[in-house]
Amino acid sequence: MKSSPEELRAAGVLLADAVADGPIDLAAIFGNPRPVEIEIGSGKGAFLLRRAAERPEINLLGIEWLAGYAAYAADRACRAGLTNVRLLCADAEQVFAKCLADESVQRVHIYFPDPWPKRRHLGRRLIKPEFVRRLRRVLRAGGTAYIVTDHAEYFRRIYRVMESAGGLAILKPGGMEAVGSNFEKKYAARGKCFYSLTAIRCG
Ligand SMILES: C[S@@+](CC[C@H](N)C(=O)[O-])C[C@H]1O[C@@H](n2cnc3c(N)ncnc32)[C@H](O)[C@@H]1O
Repeated sequence: MKSSPEELRAAGVLLADAVADGPIDLAAIFGNPRPVEIEIGSGKGAFLLRRAAERPEINLLGIEWLAGYAAYAADRACRAGLTNVRLLCADAEQVFAKCLADESVQRVHIYFPDPWPKRRHLGRRLIKPEFVRRLRRVLRAGGTAYIVTDHAEYFRRIYRVMESAGGLAILKPGGMEAVGSNFEKKYAARGKCFYSLTAIRCG
């Protein structure tokens, strides 16, 4: 049976919005100090839940600003019996700016970030120099960020921003990478190309 957002909050799987107002104690929200991976824009949770099932020894935090999607993914995690998943309904930009401690995250996954292709909307894109500086701060030494998009122009921009950020090395600009997210499945069915990179915190 489907759980309500209130039940999911009470169970500690869907984190109260107030958590994004201040520092987040990752070990406290998961109840253990295992390595944490974050997915930004986790949508309905297809990738997040699959990763959590495959890697029970790590903790997975999905950050999704649409409340309906965050609750949907939290409910799926509960029903699948996944104890290593938490969903935070918040703006990832704010969470990285205000809530995550330095060197607290092992890996950040960003799959099909909204490309905001219109010129007047470019400022709304997530991956810009300020965000990348925060991403680097939050990653542990040797931690990685993995990004996949179908949008060639946004990818070129992402690549330039990551490359010039300092303290991040780009390991692998790639082609088709299967991550199993909903947008990946949808775009693959339409025959779209994907662009991906892995960046590692090296300094
Ligand atoms: C194009 S969808 C991709 C969803 C999923 N990653 C996938 O590959 O199927 C982008 C998702 O990111 C979420 N999103 C966009 N900007 C966000 C932000 N700043 N903070 C949190 N979620 C965000 C959107 O609500 C949406 O669910």
